[in-house]
Amino acid sequence: MNNDIERVLYSQEEINHRADELAAAITEEYHDQNPLVISVLTGAMIFTSDMLKRLNFKLNVDLVDVSSYDGTDSTGQVKLDFDLKSDVKGRSVIIMEDIIDTGRTLKYLVQLLKDRGAKSVAVCALLDKPGRREVSIEGDYVGFTTPNEFLVGYGLDYNNLYRNLPYVGVLKRSVYAN
Ligand code: IMP
Ligand code: MG
Repeated sequence: MNNDIERVLYSQEEINHRADELAAAITEEYHDQNPLVISVLTGAMIFTSDMLKRLNFKLNVDLVDVSSYDGTDSTGQVKLDFDLKSDVKGRSVIIMEDIIDTGRTLKYLVQLLKDRGAKSVAVCALLDKPGRREVSIEGDYVGFTTPNEFLVGYGLDYNNLYRNLPYVGVLKRSVYAN
């Protein structure tokens, strides 16, 4: 598995350190708001878990699954595969996402939650690839701004592989080019 990685971009230690900083900023803003933290499956699973352990105040957790991706190319279409259990009406919501790429997924999700009456919707993403953006959306809390390369590990996958790498790395082109 590690032979398929071109280079490591963010190590576990760097991610831990950045998660501390993000959690401190979120705590300052949300500690008295009982927010609903929504993790976007499956990619944000590991990052969400890291963040939740650092948010020591009253909050609720829910899950959502949206898909727009096929291999390394965005299909441009976003689809709700698994809906929330919670009512977001009047709630302060924080979406946890692995990466903001074209921005389509988050644009769709943020709009959906606003349409359902959320009081506020913030986006917390481990990674941001602004060079690939196709729709206007920005993360409120972003771990790292990354180059335009296909990344795997720490939840991010290629065809549902590599999610369990304990770092974020660049996938070798030879793995997906043919
Ligand atoms: P967007 O809708 O184009 O912003 O894409 C968001 C989703 O695409 C993320 O939640 C990821 O699941 C996936 N994605 C985007 N870039 C990468 C990448 O470099 N590696 C793995 N998955 C990615
Ligand atoms: Mg995703």
